[in-house]
Amino acid sequence: MHPSVPLRGAQAGALAPAIRALLDAASSLGRDERPRLYRHVHPHGHATARLARSFAAALGRAGPASLDEIELGAHLHDFGKYLLAESILLKPGPLTGEERAAVSLHPVYGAHLLSGLPAVNDAVRRVVLHHHERWDGAGYPEGLAGARIPLEARLVCIADVYTSLRARRSYKPTLSRREAAAVMEAMAGRELDPDMTVDFLRFVGAYERR
Ligand SMILES: [Fe+2]
Ligand SMILES: [Fe+2]
Repeated sequence: MHPSVPLRGAQAGALAPAIRALLDAASSLGRDERPRLYRHVHPHGHATARLARSFAAALGRAGPASLDEIELGAHLHDFGKYLLAESILLKPGPLTGEERAAVSLHPVYGAHLLSGLPAVNDAVRRVVLHHHERWDGAGYPEGLAGARIPLEARLVCIADVYTSLRARRSYKPTLSRREAAAVMEAMAGRELDPDMTVDFLRFVGAYERR
């Protein structure tokens, strides 16, 4: 069983039961047997969730969302990537315009696929749907800007970016904490909530020293 589903022509709603069955099957495999995409997406969700929950707790405010909702939303934020072809997600080189457009659908796919699950309430769904919005409004899927982006989604976005920068990927080496912080300082006010980024960069040093 393989979690790669070609995007072209895929109907997310019709595929939902198949994707769930497929994830169950992937979970039951031994680590070395798991498809590469599952190994890629699942640890990233787990790392993002731990970081997002700790940061939200340290911040003391996460909008109307609870810590549990933030953690679950962060864990599932890239769930929609299961609908994308592995050849796109794990491509070592730069993506074409068409491939980027395909990837940009994953928040909508994720929110749609997960919406029938009892644990996925509105707060969790907001995290999944809006984790690629940008502070300047140039993100996706809705192009929300500034404080119009749900606070819990802004928070998970920051945790997602940091986790990705610190990870080794097929297309980039891992960055040190200082290097990742420098990248995020440059993103603050354009892609990331500027005040929350300042708070995050103060928080993350202690988080990593634990
Ligand atoms: Fe994502
Ligand atoms: Fe992510």
